[in-house]
Amino acid sequence: MALQIDFSGQTVLVTGAGRGLGKSMALTFAQAGADVFLGNRKEDQGLETVKEIEALGRRSGFVRCDVAQESEVQRLLEAAQEFGGGRLDVVVNAAGVISVEDLLYTTDDEVRRLFDINVLGTIHILKHALPLLEKQRSGNIVTVSSIAGRGGLDMLQAYCASKAAVISLTQSAARMAAKYGVRVNSIAPGIIRTSMWEEILDGMAHGWNPANKSPLNAQEREELWQSSVQKMIPMGHAQQPEDIAWATVFLASNLAREITGQVLTIDGGTTMV
Ligand SMILES: NC(=O)c1ccc[n+]([C@@H]2O[C@H](COP(=O)([O-])OP(=O)(O)OC[C@H]3O[C@@H](n4cnc5c(N)ncnc54)[C@H](O)[C@@H]3O)[C@@H](O)[C@H]2O)c1
Repeated sequence: MALQIDFSGQTVLVTGAGRGLGKSMALTFAQAGADVFLGNRKEDQGLETVKEIEALGRRSGFVRCDVAQESEVQRLLEAAQEFGGGRLDVVVNAAGVISVEDLLYTTDDEVRRLFDINVLGTIHILKHALPLLEKQRSGNIVTVSSIAGRGGLDMLQAYCASKAAVISLTQSAARMAAKYGVRVNSIAPGIIRTSMWEEILDGMAHGWNPANKSPLNAQEREELWQSSVQKMIPMGHAQQPEDIAWATVFLASNLAREITGQVLTIDGGTTMV
């Protein structure tokens, strides 16, 4: 038989599954046979993903959840476990936000907003998923970091720091979980033109200073994307959401059973560290 990735009979939880990379991951796990439970801050987007998963013939469910709120994450994990009939096999935390304010102009409030979601959100997921998986003595967690967390950039500094923290948390959690047979890894996406990148293009246009805010029109965004962003990528093109989803499904699968505490970068060669 040909080599397969098969999640039949498994339950996967994906946060941030309302759009972008989280949505693509949720749909890809469903294509691989999993039943997929979702958490997202925006309910309408989450429910739309549920419909698309059900159209693939898999079971799905949704709880509105802001990962920055610990009580909501706790409720999400409980609901996902119940959905799985008492088991949860994979937890993917794709919920995350960007901040396009330069270090020299940003405010404490903006940095707190970013860290509450990207860092505290990851802590909440790990804090409530680890005991559950450790008790089962099986399962794995995939966090979503970024190439931005693998080395500083001369832009997006607070975002870089938040994603470096996600990598560090992933490595510590992997050490804690290994003796229970539970794996923890991180996916570091490169450049994928989701809604997040539309925000970054606006940030590039106003020099990362929120005081100069002048949103670009569609044509200006396209020119900036073609002229500067794509040039950063040695392979010459941005990644697609499914590239990130396929790597996530691999890391969560049994093919990666000896991989833990690692960061898998999918970036067309943008970083080579
Ligand atoms: N797009 C890229 O190029 C890129 C590159 C590297 C890393 N990432 C990371 O990938 C993840 C997904 O990014 P994306 O590009 O799909 O972004 P996106 O903005 O398109 O989607 C983010 C999703 O997360 C949800 N969300 C946001 N805050 C939330 C919260 N507090 N609680 C629950 N849900 C929340 C949103 O409702 C949305 O559905 C993020 O962690 C991001 O930092 C993206």
